[in-house]
This record gives sequence, structure tokens and C-alpha cells, in this order.
Amino acid sequence: MSSPGMLERIPEAATRNQEAPQYLQLPKFPTQLDSIRRFIDAVPAELQAFPALDLGCGPGPTTAMLLQRGYRVIAVDFSTASLQLNAASNAEHESRVMYVAADLKEFQVAGESCGVLMMADFLQHLGDMGDQQRFLHKILAALVPGGRFYLSCLNYNVKNWWKKDRIGSFSDGAMPGTISYRRSQVREVLSMLPSTIEVLAIHPMNIFHNAVADRMASRLPLPFLLARMIVVIGRRRLSEPPRVDTQR
Ligand SMILES: C[S@@+](CC[C@H](N)C(=O)[O-])C[C@H]1O[C@@H](n2cnc3c(N)ncnc32)[C@H](O)[C@@H]1O
Repeated sequence: MSSPGMLERIPEAATRNQEAPQYLQLPKFPTQLDSIRRFIDAVPAELQAFPALDLGCGPGPTTAMLLQRGYRVIAVDFSTASLQLNAASNAEHESRVMYVAADLKEFQVAGESCGVLMMADFLQHLGDMGDQQRFLHKILAALVPGGRFYLSCLNYNVKNWWKKDRIGSFSDGAMPGTISYRRSQVREVLSMLPSTIEVLAIHPMNIFHNAVADRMASRLPLPFLLARMIVVIGRRRLSEPPRVDTQR
């Protein structure tokens, strides 16, 4: 666990603190809520025996969605203002939620201890592909065998390609330039997952902001050329894949 005073020295964390109250005033896109709700509804009930980790939880709303389904939740973010708002809005569930102020790049969690990992909309902020992959390998080891994860991140679409906008930082907001990102392609996200993971679904998100229109558009050819986001849903394999022996 990191000390909150130290976390405020991270420029993005300071910006997130300033922006936390406004974040809740901007409702999350219906597409994202719909996609997360469908994921949570499909998680096998027996995984509720283990805590769910809500990483980069922000002020909400993923923590509330997990709590409302009966999970015990550990919600992690480096923005303490976001955690405080999240706690205030989930006060009725306080006996089932723990808040941890930490930098996800440093955060450690015991192996095979969680039933669900919620990773909504932050991977793009964790650095280059190497940093993102290190994070995913570390954190996915926290899933119990059969445990499920939800991962969404910024997609590198044709509009971004045209504008040469792959790696950058947001120019608006409370402290412009402090929130940096790297947009990924689907094959890159898949290549960052460890072999202990089985992918159950991949879908593009936010071609349209309306959930039904977005699901229909995702069936068009080459939908990732247009989508703003990538969603990957998967689970930890029940047994490790066999090792390939390269020695003859
Ligand atoms: C776009 S918001 C998404 C919030 C929430 N998951 C949702 O889907 O509404 C990204 C969140 O990730 C958090 N975040 C980004 N980088 C982080 C890091 N290195 N450590 C901890 N939290 C981080 C930010 O503070 C912010 O709350």
C-alpha cells in the first residue's frame, strides 16, 4: 500500500484528485455500463466466495456494480479523492468493501486470491507495452483458477491513425498534459496476456454510444477500425498449459 502523500506527487494522480467530483457528474457511456453489467451477470456464482479486485476504480461506478451483485470488493486507485467519493457513494455496503490508495505499477496482491478482476479503462495510462504487460502478468496471477477478468482500454482506430494520435496525453482537463496514454491494437492486448489465461470474448466498444447500436455495429466487418475501445473478457485456466520443450 502506498502513502497517499507520496501518490499526490504523481502528476496524473494529482489531476485525478482535482477531476474526481466532475467524473461522477459525467455519466459513463451506456455502452460501457452495458458491457460491464453483462460481464458481471455472466460470472459464475461460486466466484463470489473470493473477493473481487476493482483496479483503477475511480469514483465509480464499477465498485457499486460489483457490490450490488453481492461481492466483497477491494477497490484500488492512486487518486485518494476518487476513493473518498467512491466510499461515500457506497456507504451502505461499507462492510464488504476495502479501499486501497496505491499506484497500480507498485501494487502487489497475493497469487490465486481473487475471483474477479475488474480492469475498466485504465491500462492505456500505465506506460508502454512492456509496462502494461508486466502489470497484466502480475495482476492476472491474483485470479483463482477459473476466476474471470474484464479488461477495457483505448483502441488505436483509423481516426487515431489518421491524426497520428497513438501515444500522447489529454490536452484538456484540470492539468492538461498530465494524463498520458498509449492506444493499443487488439493483437497487442492479446499478446500481453500470460499463457495461464483463456480469452472468452473480445469485442470493440464505442463505435456508437448507444448500447444496442454499438452491439449491432460491432458485427460489421473490421469493427476495430472504428471503435474507441477494446474489451477483452477471459478467465484463468483451470490447469497450466503444457510446456513446449524446445530441447531435442
Ligand atoms: C478513466 S478512469 C476509469 C475509472 C473506472 N475504472 C471506470 O471505468 O469508470 C481511470 C482510473 O485509473 C486510475 N489510474 C490510472 N493510472 C493509475 C495507476 N498507475 N495507479 C492507480 N490508479 C491509476 C485513475 O486515477 C482513474 O481513476
